[in-house]
Amino acid sequence: MAFALLSLVALNACEPKPAKEGSVAVAPAAAKDLHTQSNADSIAVSHLDLDINVDLAGKRISGTALWTIDNKNKLKELKLDTYDLTIDSVLVDGKKAPHTLAPALPHLGSALHIPIGDNAKQVAVYYKTGANARALQWLDPQQTHDKKSPFLYTQSESIYARSWIPCPDGPGIRYSYAARVTVPKGLLALMSAENPQQVNDSSVYHFKMETPVPAYLMALAVGDIQFRPINERTGVYAEPGMIDKVRNEFEDVGKMVTTAEQLYGPYRWGRYDVIVLPPGFPIGGMENPRLTFCTPTVIAGDRSLVSLIAHELAHSWSGNLVTNATWNDFWLNEGFTVYFERRIMEQLMGKTYSDMLWELGYQDLQTAVDEIGPKSPDTWLKLNLTGRDPDDGLTDIAYEKGSLLLETIERTVGRQQFDKFLNDYFNDHAFKTITTEQFLAYLDEHLLHGDSTLYKKIDIKAWVYGPGIPANCPRADMERFTKVDAERTKFLNGTAPAQLTTTGWTTHEWLHFLRKMPATLTDAQMKALDEQYKLTNTGNSEIADLWFVMSIRAGYKAAYPAMEQFLSTVGRRKFLQPLYAEMMKTPANQPMARNLYTKYRGNYHPLAQETLDKMVNKK
Ligand code: BES
Ligand code: ZN
Repeated sequence: MAFALLSLVALNACEPKPAKEGSVAVAPAAAKDLHTQSNADSIAVSHLDLDINVDLAGKRISGTALWTIDNKNKLKELKLDTYDLTIDSVLVDGKKAPHTLAPALPHLGSALHIPIGDNAKQVAVYYKTGANARALQWLDPQQTHDKKSPFLYTQSESIYARSWIPCPDGPGIRYSYAARVTVPKGLLALMSAENPQQVNDSSVYHFKMETPVPAYLMALAVGDIQFRPINERTGVYAEPGMIDKVRNEFEDVGKMVTTAEQLYGPYRWGRYDVIVLPPGFPIGGMENPRLTFCTPTVIAGDRSLVSLIAHELAHSWSGNLVTNATWNDFWLNEGFTVYFERRIMEQLMGKTYSDMLWELGYQDLQTAVDEIGPKSPDTWLKLNLTGRDPDDGLTDIAYEKGSLLLETIERTVGRQQFDKFLNDYFNDHAFKTITTEQFLAYLDEHLLHGDSTLYKKIDIKAWVYGPGIPANCPRADMERFTKVDAERTKFLNGTAPAQLTTTGWTTHEWLHFLRKMPATLTDAQMKALDEQYKLTNTGNSEIADLWFVMSIRAGYKAAYPAMEQFLSTVGRRKFLQPLYAEMMKTPANQPMARNLYTKYRGNYHPLAQETLDKMVNKK
């Protein structure tokens, strides 16, 4: 997971306190979201009608965002978030209104101030996007899989929706939406909404999302895209040249939805589809409602990386249904989702399989804690992102420490009780937001009941408001990895790779085998592994990425052409960052990093560019 090293910031003194042990919980007040400048929490904003034109040649979106509001508190103005938008005009209830765009603040962009009357009902903003829209990646045909048509996709989480729609851009504000999207002839448009399944002649697509969603779940993809059903309520979208492979890889997605429902209650969003995007997509997956956005690097050919889909699907409960109130509470989205993802995978693939996912996650957590610093408040589950980019919170703390807290609670109270609790949690908070403090109060009221023995065993404050990995952190059974350890030891003691027992290994066993190798292998060792297992040319992105890092360390040049090929197309930040970071570690490899980055920077997403610019271009 990608993140920058951060400075220590003391917790805000007026931060709400966690529920006291044994106390009768009083629901703590909602927290202020410091990453939106909108006042839409005081003006009920209920619906968005979006009417936009997507100009792929000019790389610009333009159109109207029409907001339905209820000025129940009789405020004098509506404030919306914008980032690098040009505002052409604003109408309030059909009449032209003066508006001002405040100077841009770091990370947050410019607040759009619109004066409104006490009974204002509709605010229309005519706007266009700018060249620095952080949510948008415009691809030329050669940057797509099929290399025939241009492509656009958005990535709105955490606070980038404001760079393509003037909106109240905080996770605590939900609204329904309808959209009319005009695109170039022959291309298909898809949103986080009810979607078409084929291209139409008019080039105009209509969308409806009647379930209220926060702005970070607004999404749009436009390109030469085809659809294939999996079953009656799930299916896949991808470029034509990839669609059959994608359909095959995601064969089990229908089963995943049923499994998730058996665990935590009905799927409430209608259809569940997945779109596999061109390789530049900067992240692994994004839980856009009804339509998960996904990197093509999960298409390994053997369905071995599909836990990513289980993860994005699980967000249909944790995140999209019950939403973190602010980005400081991000672990409530991601930690719950990782826990849920592993429960789905356990159900589908068996416990020895999900145990491997847990252990690899634990290793990621250890790495994250080492890199951030074991005493840093950035290793608490509850974050303090005041004045910072919410992207700073995108670390394995939220994901892995968060999920391990839930695992700790499960082991303490028993699975049956914990599952009942989670079912209630999703029901009671459906379509609402929740803060960490509200969660702790709910946990006390519905599960722990002030029981001091349970509190002692779980030590919840150490997890939520304490650094590093708590002493009671659970570990998974190591049944399958113990066997891998034995093979690795044999190899390091001189056994030829051909003599090792690796039959039946999944991606996860290979990752564990390679991760725990000594920091640097000799050229001969790298060569021997490569000859036997064809690691340089593996089609598996997770294994390839790790192998290339090892190759840079070992100076194993035979892998470099394949690594360059990988870096020239793949835009997933999680893969790019370790490779460039490894090259930047030694003066001898820095010119290679700069040279490759200069060549391929243009293929990467604006957010990946921001991360890598800081790393590669520093002197
Ligand atoms: N919601 C996240 C992606 C995200 C988080 C984007 C915060 C921007 C800001 C998504 O569900 C996610 O976690 N994706 C992971 C994959 C997952 C299997 C851990 C990723 O993209 O690597
Ligand atoms: Zn997630």
